[in-house]
Amino acid sequence: MNIKQKIQAQISEIVLSLYQLKDINLDVQENKTDFEGDFTVVIFPLVKQLKKNPELLGEEIGEALANAVSYISSFKVVKGFLNLSLKSEAFIKALDFADQNFDTIEPKNQTVMVEYSSPNTNKPLHLGHIRNILLGYSVSQILQEAGYKVIKTQIVNDRGIHICKSMLAWEKFGNGETPEQTDTKGDKFVGNYYVKFDQEYKKEIKQLEAEGLSEEDAKKQAPLFRQAQKMLLDWEQGDETVRTLWEKMNQWVYSGFNQTYKRLGVDFDQIQYESNTYILGKDLIQEGLKKGVFFTKEDGSVWCDLSDEGLDEKLLLRGDGTSVYMTQDLGTAVERFKDNDIQQLIYTVGNEQDYHFQVLFKILKKLGYAWADHLYHLSYGMVELPNGKMKSREGTVVDADDLMQEMYITAKEKAQELGKLENLSEEDKEKSYEIVGLGALKYFILKVDPKKKMLFNPEESIDFNGNTGPFIQYTYARIQSLLEKAGYQKQDLPKVLDINAYERGLIMQLCNFKAVVQKASESLSPAHLANYIYDLVKAYNSFYQNNPILNQEDLLLRQFRLELSVLTSRTIRRSLSLLGIGVVNRM
Ligand code: ARG
Repeated sequence: MNIKQKIQAQISEIVLSLYQLKDINLDVQENKTDFEGDFTVVIFPLVKQLKKNPELLGEEIGEALANAVSYISSFKVVKGFLNLSLKSEAFIKALDFADQNFDTIEPKNQTVMVEYSSPNTNKPLHLGHIRNILLGYSVSQILQEAGYKVIKTQIVNDRGIHICKSMLAWEKFGNGETPEQTDTKGDKFVGNYYVKFDQEYKKEIKQLEAEGLSEEDAKKQAPLFRQAQKMLLDWEQGDETVRTLWEKMNQWVYSGFNQTYKRLGVDFDQIQYESNTYILGKDLIQEGLKKGVFFTKEDGSVWCDLSDEGLDEKLLLRGDGTSVYMTQDLGTAVERFKDNDIQQLIYTVGNEQDYHFQVLFKILKKLGYAWADHLYHLSYGMVELPNGKMKSREGTVVDADDLMQEMYITAKEKAQELGKLENLSEEDKEKSYEIVGLGALKYFILKVDPKKKMLFNPEESIDFNGNTGPFIQYTYARIQSLLEKAGYQKQDLPKVLDINAYERGLIMQLCNFKAVVQKASESLSPAHLANYIYDLVKAYNSFYQNNPILNQEDLLLRQFRLELSVLTSRTIRRSLSLLGIGVVNRM
């Protein structure tokens, strides 16, 4: 427990013994430096319950607290607020607690599977995927930090009519060319043929319409569309030529995706392919029918009635026996719990699929799977760009690779303007641009509550001042240079020192790390962590501006402040790593 949590616990005990009130958690807040006292306890909730004068209550609790806890130096009641001042030694002791920020956490003996990314193989990754991937990866890191075992997974949609479209276009218009020959990234290469299909298909539709067909008929009768459908059937029957082409093109896509993942700094423990999972789930349909959870309609299609849950009827199997998206996801969930010893499963998927997951979880529950209560949809909002620069030519999707490259270039320009990296090797400079550019992107996206839709503003994200990744990285780098200039070496700290308000504020923030990790892991929101780092950095900066370090004549004090700087930089580095963001020693 950090100091704040200890005070909170003490107060709960006091409230119980003084007023026989159980489970009361009064809010304890850290004070700003210009406030009197280190913490403030908010008494109001008790005033209401006990119908007692707030001043009197504050005095009673303050008295009891000062008696029970040796490190309270004084207290003062102002209206319904109880201000507490602590002795310096409380903060020295708290530093031991902050030191534990870097201990390995007690394992929770639970494994969580986190699914993220889950792309389709006909299109390159875009800005929406970036939010998905950053969230899924960061949540995985945070869960690990909180003591869970994590299995990172993705399910790749590698089959279906959309892939056949790319395949067909390549066969017809590709002249046998390959990504290597054309020096094109594999996923882009295949994506281009998907676009090509669409262009040619539209021409055919126009042609047919000119010949007098209705739009609807033209769409269905266009030769390209029919050929794509035929290809899908051939694929399903295992036709060798089609399968070989399919494998070849998917390999191109994966090598492209892997480059993108690598540059983003993320990885996976497992990959599932829809070509293997799409048949799953059909036997569950039989099981559901037997249990009376599903029902059949006249045309033979199978449904689940969720109207008792406030939802409608959901199709699970078509009349012709083919499955739908839901069927596969039912089967995949069951298989995941069968094949892995997992206690939780988190799906990182955009909020346009909220309804799908609501239904999925309800059906699994109806089927009687106990683990259905441990499924979560980590749903996130859309991310858009302000109009302009980085929109692709079509004006809609923003390509993930282009965006990363743009961030790198901006970071490079900024660094060259500032000119502080001049005597680094070319290689180190490059590394630095990349870490800062991607740090800007990652932080800007992760600091937003996942549920909210957001605007990604590239310029704002890379501002060296403000709530940005580079601002935080800059503080880290500055601490490194301070330590270097000071010739810092670790020493044991003396037990007595008079600790001022800035130092206190910083220590309080340092001690919050674990509680924040806990909160972020419970709420599956990296935003808590991002905003924590920002608060920590602000506390450090005001400490740094108001407390001389290098020129400090009192050597004990100088050492103490250097230790605080070390702890801060380590905590920044650790926190950023949970967001998948790196640090640099110079920038
Ligand atoms: N590939 C799907 C899409 O692009 C997302 C898959 C999400 N995961 C799942 N288990 N349904 O929409």
